[in-house]
Amino acid sequence: SAMEQEDGIRQELGSLHGIPLFKSFIEGWPQVKAFQARPDDLLISTYPKSGTTWLSEIMDMIYHDGNVEKCRRDAIYNRVPFLELREPMCPSGVEQLENTPSPRLVKTHLPVQLLPTSFWEKDCKIIYMARNPKDVAISYYYFHQMAKIHPDPGTKAEFLENFMAGKVAYGSWYDHVRGWWEKKQEKKILYLFYEDMKKDPRREVQKILQFLGKELEEGTVERILHHTSFEEMKKNPAANYETVLPTLMDHSLSPFLRKGISGDWKNHFTVAQNERFDQHYQEHMAGSDLHFQMEV
Ligand code: PPS
Repeated sequence: SAMEQEDGIRQELGSLHGIPLFKSFIEGWPQVKAFQARPDDLLISTYPKSGTTWLSEIMDMIYHDGNVEKCRRDAIYNRVPFLELREPMCPSGVEQLENTPSPRLVKTHLPVQLLPTSFWEKDCKIIYMARNPKDVAISYYYFHQMAKIHPDPGTKAEFLENFMAGKVAYGSWYDHVRGWWEKKQEKKILYLFYEDMKKDPRREVQKILQFLGKELEEGTVERILHHTSFEEMKKNPAANYETVLPTLMDHSLSPFLRKGISGDWKNHFTVAQNERFDQHYQEHMAGSDLHFQMEV
């Protein structure tokens, strides 16, 4: 049946150096590990559902001086290839990147300890974006429903337990955000927050420009902000993932650009779940100077 066909795409997670990951990605790991970064690559690194696509569209717009037409040249997942992507029947992220002219924008969700060493050797610029874990968990839950590569998420309550325990693709959110945060002490990493981007996107774009050593006219920045707003991206076929095969993503279950707000978790967590989450958060963030805004 159609149902069985769809579920056939769902994958059990394997383990890559202790990190839960799709088995197809693990099969492609030797190529990812050996990936040759170029000095002018810019890496966009995130835990899933933390604003990757938003930051990617902003970066492509900056790279094209705010030229909207140029940024419609292809889907975002081709303009900013996904390093560790490997699925049957389509080119892998590494293959895509090998065919991408410099300067390249590269997307990854890898935890810091698994990033191919060549990014460090070539001293590539890296922008990390983090989002509060309550909104990430809810966004990830809906993404599991629509993006059929993931295992079935079960109920919201079951998914929350798995998320807190790090039993989801890319593992523990805590380890991910903390690992990249600590790396910032020794490496050139711009660490951004989804919540800051919601609150004052102009200021965050200015931070990016400063990090790149690039200046843009005020009108260009204005155009970038408009083009990368949630409303504009949601209706932009080059940004909203609607061109992905329906067997891989079913937007009728939940659109890729779902809500785009901070604090949506309040519409989903029960009081008890929230208390449990807060407790768990305190324990796992103890001793860190990394802090999150749970709403804006
Ligand atoms: S992925 O699959 O990991 O690459 O997903 P990612 O792009 O990191 O995260 C998807 C969430 O980001 C929201 N989003 C935005 N929010 C605000 N403004 C803009 N322009 C924007 N673009 C994408 C998207 O809606 C997902 O969050 P939720 O909370 O599910 O809406």
